[in-house]
Amino acid sequence: MVFDSGLGGLTVYREVAAVCPGTDFLYVADDAAFPYGGMKEASLVARVVALMDELIKAHRPDLVVIACNTASTIVLPHLRKAFTLPFVGTVPAIKPACAGSVTRRVSVLGTEATVKREYTRALIRDYAQGCEVTLVGSKQLAAYAEAELNGSPIGDDALREEILPCFREDSGRTDTIVLACTHYPLLIERLRDLSPWPVKFIDPAPAIARRVVDLLGSVHAAPAGNGGTTRAIFTSGRAPERVLARFGISSGKTLAPATR
Ligand code: DGL
Repeated sequence: MVFDSGLGGLTVYREVAAVCPGTDFLYVADDAAFPYGGMKEASLVARVVALMDELIKAHRPDLVVIACNTASTIVLPHLRKAFTLPFVGTVPAIKPACAGSVTRRVSVLGTEATVKREYTRALIRDYAQGCEVTLVGSKQLAAYAEAELNGSPIGDDALREEILPCFREDSGRTDTIVLACTHYPLLIERLRDLSPWPVKFIDPAPAIARRVVDLLGSVHAAPAGNGGTTRAIFTSGRAPERVLARFGISSGKTLAPATR
């Protein structure tokens, strides 16, 4: 099962699905509560743990990917305490970004909630490896990504405003930006076009996919091409069928949300 507050987790789903042939997936978007970035921590923990309880009982997944930095950076310890199945989280890829930065200037672009979390601050303390790391919290970018995907393009100026604080020029230029929200890779072409100079954007999805294979490998040793089925649940009850089709999730594969 791959879980997010909305469509961002699809960027993780497509990587995981590509390396797990023959696996059945359930994509769950808690879009009734989107965006998670604006929620109080205690409410977010309570909501995700309760929803996960319903989902696990109803669908019995082998593994859950929390394809959302905003949730992972606060909810993961609670989930691991409450349930016995493996959870793979999505947390800002600060370690590889800093390891690869030549100018030693890295920015982390996430929701306002993710960049404020102690979890993120601790990653910087532990893994900055001497790099100067700039945290940039974006209020709008996740919603802009949803809008773009749903066919309402966002203007250049609005997008530029969200990303420009990532580009620092004082004593060396930023050369690496961590995409610390799974929605942002949905905008990757636009972000590249609007960058004032070329930078490396780090999308953690391939690393998450490798982790899933490590954990599930022996359970799902089905040969490639032995296609599994992907179903989807949107807690609002309004699944965007056309968007899902672009990620290979065919219409008619959406299930009604349980109680929300
Ligand atoms: N996709 C989520 C993340 O990775 C965030 C979007 C939201 O604010 O709900 O952080």
